[in-house]
Amino acid sequence: MNTVIAKKLKALEETSKQYWNIPRETAVHLSLLIKACKYKNILEVGTSNGYSAIWMAEAARQTNGKVTTVEYFEERINLAKNNLKDCDLLQYVNIKHGKALDIIKLLAKQVNNNEIDLFDFIFIDANKAEYIDYFNALDPLLLENGMFIADNVTSHQNEMKDFLEVFNNHTGYQISYLPFGGGTLIALRC
Ligand SMILES: C[S@@+](CC[C@H](N)C(=O)[O-])C[C@H]1O[C@@H](n2cnc3c(N)ncnc32)[C@H](O)[C@@H]1O
Repeated sequence: MNTVIAKKLKALEETSKQYWNIPRETAVHLSLLIKACKYKNILEVGTSNGYSAIWMAEAARQTNGKVTTVEYFEERINLAKNNLKDCDLLQYVNIKHGKALDIIKLLAKQVNNNEIDLFDFIFIDANKAEYIDYFNALDPLLLENGMFIADNVTSHQNEMKDFLEVFNNHTGYQISYLPFGGGTLIALRC
């Protein structure tokens, strides 16, 4: 990672509570999973100011990949764009403005029309009560050996009981957890 990106990430960590960013430890894990598994087609649901997107875009630059990220607050999209631009990473990121479920539906249509590829790394970090809907819509869009990652599974477990129940009984995923911040579920599709 170059010094410009490292500096920007450190600066963003000063405001991480305000923008609900994932902890640095979780971000490092996302980055190294992308690099180690050479994931290329990455989807994030919940961009905020782009902190996690910077980590994933920096990894995607190394894997020749790209990040699609979804956010409905225009102000945060603008912040994310500027932060990614400052890191010279904007060209690796496609920011979609809209409600997550609407954008996911559009992405599914594009996959079905062969306009875009399936995803191999999906990270959800938006409306916790909608996690079950994100999963149901995104599960068909994830490649085998791809990863499905969800943040706040400990801190917000009451809001996502249905999602956690589905995952805990799912035979199609190997699951583990990262203990940092609100707790992160890591699931390998197998
Ligand atoms: C926890 S923050 C994301 C933090 C970001 N992943 C990071 O670590 O830098 C969640 C973001 O999701 C956005 N969001 C929440 N519900 C959404 C929805 N239904 N559609 C699109 N964006 C949504 C919020 O505006 C917020 O910026």
